[in-house]
Amino acid sequence: MNKTHPIGIFDSGIGGLTVARAIRKQLPNEKIIYFGDTAHLPYGDKSTEAIQSYAIKICNLLLEHQCKVIVIACNSASAAAYALVKAYVGSKSKIVNVIDPTVNYISQKYSNKKVGVIGTRKTINSDVYAHKITAKNNTVEVASLATPLLAPMIEEGYYNNTISHTVIEEYLSNDRLDDIQALILACTHYPLIKDEINAFYHSTIEVLDSASLVAINVKESLDAEGLLAISKNGSDLFFVSDYTDNFNKTTKLFFERDIELQEYKLWE
Ligand code: DGL
Repeated sequence: MNKTHPIGIFDSGIGGLTVARAIRKQLPNEKIIYFGDTAHLPYGDKSTEAIQSYAIKICNLLLEHQCKVIVIACNSASAAAYALVKAYVGSKSKIVNVIDPTVNYISQKYSNKKVGVIGTRKTINSDVYAHKITAKNNTVEVASLATPLLAPMIEEGYYNNTISHTVIEEYLSNDRLDDIQALILACTHYPLIKDEINAFYHSTIEVLDSASLVAINVKESLDAEGLLAISKNGSDLFFVSDYTDNFNKTTKLFFERDIELQEYKLWE
């Protein structure tokens, strides 16, 4: 590992681009290699074993590109595969998940308050947020709700329209989320509907996504080891396991330039 090596980021699809964009903003000198496993989306409904095997294959590709840090920019994969990936990769690269930075923030800020968590079935059924938050601060009440339609809806480009408004309203009206003071968006796809969620709550509660917290975490952990790039070493690379128009469109929109998407079949 050295400072000229890239940052690897992966997700099942476009969700991790929200994290990649925050990393680009926080660390403009870093080269990014992004992998969207669009062939296997949604991860949220896959078994732990399936997600683990996809994550290992993606890490192999990112390690071939000598990534100095690999960001698991997906809550479902962070819940299912973080420990395994960390053990597998060992000292070859640093591993960052998208759950811990949010857990740290919430457990410091929301003592004696109720906090909601929405995410995929995989993330919510793992109960990882409630476990990690209450281990740090057992005065925080955590109410979790699986919202499995949201990630595929967003991946298909359905947001800021009547369909997304209806689905969001239906989920957020669930009694379980009554009286929350903050809502954790425990899926990296959800920042794309953050405005609609804020509108549902009339901006009266904090709606928290992990993107900028994760970007700060990546910056601090690279800095601590003297691994921050001094200048950009080559162009960013974007891989998908199955080409989709919406991925192409969203990448261009997020990075404000033409992006060349490379197809990489994980299973070949
Ligand atoms: N973006 C992923 C996450 O943060 C999930 C989407 C999916 O189910 O594939 O959980």
